[in-house]
Amino acid sequence: MRIDVVSIFPSYFDGLTLSLLGKARATGLLDLQIHDLRNWAGDRHRTVDDTPYGGGAGMVMKPEPWALALDDLASSGPEAVDRPTIIFPSPAGELFRQKTARDFAAREHIIIGCGRYEGIDERVFEYAASLGEVRLVSLGDYVLNGGEVAAMAMIEAVGRLIPGVVGNPESLVEESHEDGLLEYPSYTKPAAWRDRSVPDVLLSGNHGAIAKWRGEQQLERTRQRRPDLLSD
Ligand code: ADE
Repeated sequence: MRIDVVSIFPSYFDGLTLSLLGKARATGLLDLQIHDLRNWAGDRHRTVDDTPYGGGAGMVMKPEPWALALDDLASSGPEAVDRPTIIFPSPAGELFRQKTARDFAAREHIIIGCGRYEGIDERVFEYAASLGEVRLVSLGDYVLNGGEVAAMAMIEAVGRLIPGVVGNPESLVEESHEDGLLEYPSYTKPAAWRDRSVPDVLLSGNHGAIAKWRGEQQLERTRQRRPDLLSD
């Protein structure tokens, strides 16, 4: 899978050289390329923003650097991909969920455009739709300073679903959100620790009873912490 990221802060993404995703990049499972939007700016000062029409606070990202970047990147992806998926992290987008991650993980070429300031000129989204499938995606109901942190979260959630990235594929199955519920609690040795003991059933060796207990725990936790998931 190829992911191109466009940002005015490419070094935000340095962390993605670490751990499982770093390894996936080194072994070629994930071709992740980070680009500086200013490379497509047209002037000596590499300007990418300007004042908003209609007035208001802050600056808006100019359309032309974005269009040039998207033109270049949309045509430089894997050969088999005609139209890439173009994602813009935005608090005004659809909610990013585990099923969104699964959807994105099945794509061959993703471009992520990270906005800053008060946002990107609206015409960029219309133009991008002529090059690929455009998705505005929000990490949650709060506002970040730009798309970079959201893009990193999405890359990690999507990247770990690429076959081979997580060593033991079974660990992908028994996780929060994979079956619409929160994960059951986990324990390790010692069995007794600071006056707290591991639930007896986990020491029983009775696999049926353990599976039943875990299922009940998942349901109970979800009811308490995320009742919204049960009505979805
Ligand atoms: N950019 C700013 N806030 C964001 C959010 N909540 N999700 C995705 N991108 C954002």
